[in-house]
Order: sequence, then C-alpha cells, then structure tokens
Amino acid sequence: MRDSYNRKINYLRVSITDRCNLRCTYCMPKEGVSLLGHNDILKYEEILRIIRVAVNMGICKIRITGGEPLVRRGVVDFVASLASLAGLRDISLTTNGTLLESFAAKLFAAGMKRINVSLDSLDQEKYAHITRGGDLSAVLAGIDAVHRTGFAPIKINTVAIKGFNDDEILTFAKLSLHKPYQIRFIELMTMGHTAVNHNDQYLSNTLIKEIIERHYRLTPVNGKRGSTDGPAEIYRIAGGAGEIGFISPLSHKFCQACNRLRLMADGHLRACLLTDEEVDLKKPLRAGCSDADLTELITAAIVKKPLRHDISCDVGHRKKCMTDMSSIGG
Ligand code: GTP
Ligand code: 5AD
Ligand code: SF4
Repeated sequence: MRDSYNRKINYLRVSITDRCNLRCTYCMPKEGVSLLGHNDILKYEEILRIIRVAVNMGICKIRITGGEPLVRRGVVDFVASLASLAGLRDISLTTNGTLLESFAAKLFAAGMKRINVSLDSLDQEKYAHITRGGDLSAVLAGIDAVHRTGFAPIKINTVAIKGFNDDEILTFAKLSLHKPYQIRFIELMTMGHTAVNHNDQYLSNTLIKEIIERHYRLTPVNGKRGSTDGPAEIYRIAGGAGEIGFISPLSHKFCQACNRLRLMADGHLRACLLTDEEVDLKKPLRAGCSDADLTELITAAIVKKPLRHDISCDVGHRKKCMTDMSSIGG
C-alpha cells in the first residue's frame, strides 16, 4: 500500500479510548477534554474488522494507544484477538505506565511482547505537577514489572519541555547506562491547546543531544532496523545497557519516511498526526458497509495524506492541527 508520494504505509496506530487517568498539562487543558460516550467509540469487534481489512491492504504493525489504553475494559482480550490475527508482525502499546504493574503479566500472556512508556520526570513532585496528580512510584513499579516479565524492547518516551525537565536530560540519559531501556527524547509539538499554552516551551533535540554529548560519546545504532520502524534516531553510550533515541518532528522532520495511519477511538481515520484531515469509518461501518467499501475509505484517507506537516519550531500552527494529542494517541 503506497500513498500519493510513494511512501509505503504499513503501520496503524489505534487509539482505543480518549480517556486518561492522568491530565498532562501539555497534552490536555486542565478542565479536561470532552469525553466520548460509550456509543461514540468503536467497539472492539469494529476495530478488529477495520484492522483485518487494513492488514489485507498491507498493514503489518499495530500500536495500541489512548488516552490511556489500559483504562479501557477488555483491553487484554483485545490484545489476545490481535495476536491471533494472521499477517501482523508487530503488536505494541504506548501507555503512561501507571497501571502497568498489574497488567504486565496479563498483557504478556495475551501476546504483547514490547511496550513504550511515557515518563517526563524522574522527580516525584515534578511528575505530579506535569501529570496533574500522577504517582511516579506507580510508573517506576510498572516499568520494573514489564522488565521482569520479559518485555523487550522497553522504550521510555520523554517529552522535552523547556523550564520543566531540561535539568533532567542527563538523569534520563544515564538511565540507559544501567537499564536495557531505550530512552527517547520527543520534541514538544505545538498542536491543539499546546499551541496556545506551551508555545514557548519547545526544546530542540539538537540541543538535548549536545548536552548529553558534553558528558558522553553517542554512537549511532545501525540506522533503522526494519521497514516498520518508528521515527526515532537511535544512539548508544559506550558500555550502556540501553539506548538513547531522538524523535524530532520539528527540528528534523521525518515525514518523508512516514509509514503510518491513525485510527481514533471515535472511528475517524487520520493520515497525519499534525493535519486535521480525517475520514469517518464508524458511520459507514454501522450502516452495514462491505469490506470493499472499507478498503475504499481507507484508500481515501491515504490519498489525503500530506507530504509533510506544517508546524514549525517557533510558532504553533493551531489552524493546521486543533486536535489535542490525547484524542489522537500520539
Ligand atoms: P516504535 O515502533 O517503538 O518506534 O514506536 P513509535 O515511536 O512509533 O511510537 P510511540 O507511541 O512510542 O511514539 C512516540 C511519540 O513520537 C508519539 O507519541 C509522538 O509524539 C511521536 N511520533 C510518533 N510517530 C509520529 C509521527 O508520525 N509524526 C510525528 N510528528 N510524531 C510522531
Ligand atoms: N508533543 C509531543 N509529544 C506529546 N505527547 C502528548 N502531547 C504531546 C505533544 N504536544 C506524547 C506523550 C506520550 C505520547 C502518547 O504522546 O507524552 O508519550
Ligand atoms: Fe507522518 Fe504527519 Fe507525522 Fe509527518 S507529521 S511523520 S506526515 S504523521
């Protein structure tokens, strides 16, 4: 499956809920976001049907996202159904980690073998501040649990925020010395309400890499590992157990290699994280459309996929992307 710019599309991110048990300040406004009702979100069977059609079109990698995916009931059975689908090479989950300790063994048994955890501070007070009340010790216990259970790789996603965690860059980087985790610094994307409230908190990964390199030599880890890989540039500190990754959507746009689509919990299919163009799959699905119709709708979304996003480092482009990350799933 190729888009209009000949990019191979093989990766589908699936948000199974827009709900979250945290409220990260840069991800959603403090009053929260209007949450979808039970009937507004796709049922698991509907998601599975879309995935089956997408797999027939060439999707071989699925990532489950949210909101926080582990707050939706039935997620473990959903993972098990995904794991039994023929044609999928890679199933993974992005979580805030707060519920991981109790889910680790069940997810592993259901067939999930790797996991990405969002974590923006290693200081309890700062963590509670940025998440509006989260408990750092629960996340650390969750990461420990997935490690003990045998998940690999384990990736830690840290959004770099000026004036908040720029003093923790080395602390995060050093975590990769002793633990076999991939610590990934993500540039803050000025979209949705972030473009209004956090426009001056963007921190370039070029600077973050420089800060780490003042103390450690970073050696690139053999380019991309496979055709379905995400956008991180990966390095290693000599002798370190883990790796350091940089996801730089603003300073080093990676759109030319973009391989993904995003299915939102409300049934809209989005071809670009940062462009508000969507195709509704829920309505046709519930009106009884055929698999051939679904294939056509997915193709229509792919045709709309832009060559690149239009958000820059210094100015948030709210017109291009009014949607908050919490409802797209990252
Ligand atoms: P891997 O398959 O493990 O490499 O995962 P991934 O990096 O594709 O997924 P993850 O959910 O861990 O992504 C981390 C973050 O990177 C996301 O939450 C986004 O903030 C950012 N990101 C991932 N994909 C894209 C993309 O296509 N465009 C942009 N602009 N940002 C992305
Ligand atoms: N910019 C960059 N990353 C973001 N995330 C949420 N909002 C933003 C933003 N504006 C990240 C979360 C999580 C993932 C799902 O998306 O921290 O790692
Ligand atoms: Fe793909 Fe859009 Fe992300 Fe660019 S911003 S990499 S086009 S999803």
